[in-house]
Amino acid sequence: MRSTDYTFTQGLDYASIVTASENVAWTVDEIFRGRCFDASKPIVPASWVGTHRLEFLTDQEQRTLNHCRAFSYVHIFGNFEEFIPIHLTGIVEQHRHDDRTHLRALFRFGEEEMKHQQLFRRTETVLEQSCGHQFGRYFDDAKTRVTELANAILSYPPLPRFLILLALELGSQRHYVESVQDHTEEGGDQLYAEILKAHWVEEAQHTKANMLEIARLARTLSPEAMSTVFDQIIRIGGLVNDIIVGQVTQELDTLQQVTGRTFTDAEATTLRETLYGSLNRILCDVSLSHPGFVKVALELSKEGSAKLGFA
Ligand SMILES: [Fe+2]
Ligand SMILES: [Fe+2]
Repeated sequence: MRSTDYTFTQGLDYASIVTASENVAWTVDEIFRGRCFDASKPIVPASWVGTHRLEFLTDQEQRTLNHCRAFSYVHIFGNFEEFIPIHLTGIVEQHRHDDRTHLRALFRFGEEEMKHQQLFRRTETVLEQSCGHQFGRYFDDAKTRVTELANAILSYPPLPRFLILLALELGSQRHYVESVQDHTEEGGDQLYAEILKAHWVEEAQHTKANMLEIARLARTLSPEAMSTVFDQIIRIGGLVNDIIVGQVTQELDTLQQVTGRTFTDAEATTLRETLYGSLNRILCDVSLSHPGFVKVALELSKEGSAKLGFA
């Protein structure tokens, strides 16, 4: 048992988290206001796709891939977040009669993630309406894959779950900032940027609740056990990698169906590798390298952090 008070929890308390959550709350209808995406233009930043240097792609193919990536992002986030309310319910169950603001912060956190799933599902639907075609889905409508994913993540202890969540939530801030920066010059999709902003303004509270939960759980672990948590984070990262590989295949299939294009083996390989690299960068690299996450990781365990490449 450690007596450490972690510096990353300084200034954080559940009452302030609940108040901020109430102040920024939105509904899915308020975000969309009946609007569609402008499918004549790119929807997400070109850097999210990373194919701009591939000369064998036409402008139309580049645009379709951009739309595919806009879809993949919300499809993956919406399904990845499915385990979170169940994960939080387990924490609430252990602290049934704790401080009201603690429980309210966790319930609001869980409810907001349910709403984010609704936001991302609506985004999928409106993207298909706006673009005039369907997009390939790694996660099936029968929920087989999302159930497997949620069960796999929930088989790990709460601490690595909170840590991987923290990384992805901090990453969602970078996604919003990038979308606004890239769109200033290119006139990219305003509605998509607003969706990313809406997600981030609620995730901002989740990062704080996460840090408080992480500190509470970490204090109970020995240094050796804390280091092992980072092996678990890497294994959960492997689950995310499987999703990325699967959704890139869906992007390639959608591109070929929509444009009728066939690729040589060399082109298909280059395209797959490029799409994998860019999706992995947005979801994993951007999140795990976020300074806020690196700070938490280093404070928890230098030995564990080294497993993620942090010095
Ligand atoms: Fe979320
Ligand atoms: Fe969240």
